[in-house]
Amino acid sequence: MALYSEKVMDHFRNPRNVGSIENADGIGEVGNPVCGDIMKIYLKIDNDIITDVKFETFGCGSAIASSSMATELIKGKTIQETLQITNKAVAEALDGLPAHKMHCSVLAEDAIKLALKDYYDKNGIEYDPAQFVIHDDEH
Ligand code: FES
Repeated sequence: MALYSEKVMDHFRNPRNVGSIENADGIGEVGNPVCGDIMKIYLKIDNDIITDVKFETFGCGSAIASSSMATELIKGKTIQETLQITNKAVAEALDGLPAHKMHCSVLAEDAIKLALKDYYDKNGIEYDPAQFVIHDDEH
């Protein structure tokens, strides 16, 4: 069996939603100190819905594929639905990642959470911090 699924290869070769958003409503950036990869997610939010999302990822192919798939998964979703999306859901949507590449999908989950937190902070919206815990130790 190939190491990477066709979906991973597709999203790596033709990543969706690459770029940045001017005047984004929320921005989240995370890095993995071990591999040095960095992911940045930009969100446009209107009436509790993710109306647009873009990413910039300086990282490995799995990180690029994870960012691309994650942006596809959250576009059009509510904030609460988006908060439910785990790195495992991103990896499953890609038809799996090799075990030693699962941490790449963690970057996507965490960057999205931080972008939503940024949106709440900027707008003075109260939230439960437990919803925004990121995987500091699991990278
Ligand atoms: Fe670090 Fe993929 S090797 S994000």
